[in-house]
Amino acid sequence: MPESIAQQFKSLLEENLSIDLTRGKPSSSQLDLSNELLSIPLQPLTEDGVDIRNYGEPLGIHQARELGAELLDSPITHTIAAEQSSLLLSYQLLLASHLFGINGRPWKDIENPKFICPTPGFDRHFNMLDELGIEMLSVPLVGNGLDLDILSATLAEHDDIVGLISVPRHSNPSGDIYSDKNILNIFELCSEYSEDLIFLFDNAYLIHDLTNAPNQTSIWALAEQAGVLNQTAVLTSFSKVTFGGGGLAFFAGGDGTFSLLKKIRGSMIICPDKVNQLRHVAFFKNKENIILHMQKHAAIIEPKFVLTSSILRTIPEECGTFSNPTGGYFITYKTTKPIASKVIEMCKRAGVLITPAGATFPHGVDPQDSIIRLAPTFVEAIELQKAIEVFAAAVQIAHFNLGT
Ligand SMILES: Cc1ncc(COP(=O)(O)O)c(C=O)c1O
Repeated sequence: MPESIAQQFKSLLEENLSIDLTRGKPSSSQLDLSNELLSIPLQPLTEDGVDIRNYGEPLGIHQARELGAELLDSPITHTIAAEQSSLLLSYQLLLASHLFGINGRPWKDIENPKFICPTPGFDRHFNMLDELGIEMLSVPLVGNGLDLDILSATLAEHDDIVGLISVPRHSNPSGDIYSDKNILNIFELCSEYSEDLIFLFDNAYLIHDLTNAPNQTSIWALAEQAGVLNQTAVLTSFSKVTFGGGGLAFFAGGDGTFSLLKKIRGSMIICPDKVNQLRHVAFFKNKENIILHMQKHAAIIEPKFVLTSSILRTIPEECGTFSNPTGGYFITYKTTKPIASKVIEMCKRAGVLITPAGATFPHGVDPQDSIIRLAPTFVEAIELQKAIEVFAAAVQIAHFNLGT
């Protein structure tokens, strides 16, 4: 059987493929779901008389904040509707903490500030933290959130941990959905450690469910229950709901994080794009319609996840395991041997681009060289099938050392 895999890989090499599976992007048919936004008629005034064409409403128009509050289960008073990027809001919060600090203790005055980083995680989170000179402490994800024993040990071992960043639903890339209990335990352990430690929940995939995605209590409700709202921030966006780079981003936070973000944004930006906010409000109207819209996304995406899994299942189990996400944009493959870089290099030779090995770990280094992030959504099914066949062959050739 291995010999026939090597043969199959050779013929795939000859096909001169050019397929990019690196980033989790919506496909064009997903983008088509929101085409109405391109021509939706708008009035210059909101129903409460705000002129969307002018400056004003730095926290967003009321109707957009209301949508954000519905999604994040937060009070409107503590919810901001911003521009199109939640990553930008995360960076603004980190920068505000660096400059001003949540309880008047700026991170810039701390010699060696550190962050808890669940791994595998999102490369751009690691970039932001690195740029601010923050040391990243990896804590593994275990399927339903963080490994709490390692989290406890990490907290015991280190001073000056100033925050924890996480993607609590359909985590990028592992697909973890943190259990309520896991989140409550994280809150307890970390808030006992310090009331200055910021919980940054990047809920990028909050509503990006496939069928059978389990329920999860909102982060806001859990933070309230745990008494840690002051140090909690939750973000989400419409980047993979309507248009990438053309949606809306939302932030909700308790008094501490809310005032930090408000302060730094007060210097950075006079007001968000209210025209786009009203456009989205007119398009969706309420959360119910947003959820219906997401079901249309799921109908397009789910067959691609099923196809990918069906090919991954043909790889002998001894070679590795793969995640079975109930939403989000990624499948992770974990090789048994330390061969992730080799597999990705082989795929590249065959014209299939996969997120670089290590990208899902701080500083781009996966200590086991085993985690591979697959992003099946952007390409069409025919290309996806080819790409995953290349991947499956490459894993087996690298594992069994078939020397192609
Ligand atoms: C975990 C996570 N956060 C944030 C983003 C980017 O979100 P936005 O477009 O709202 O900045 C992504 C996009 O891939 C993501 O995976």
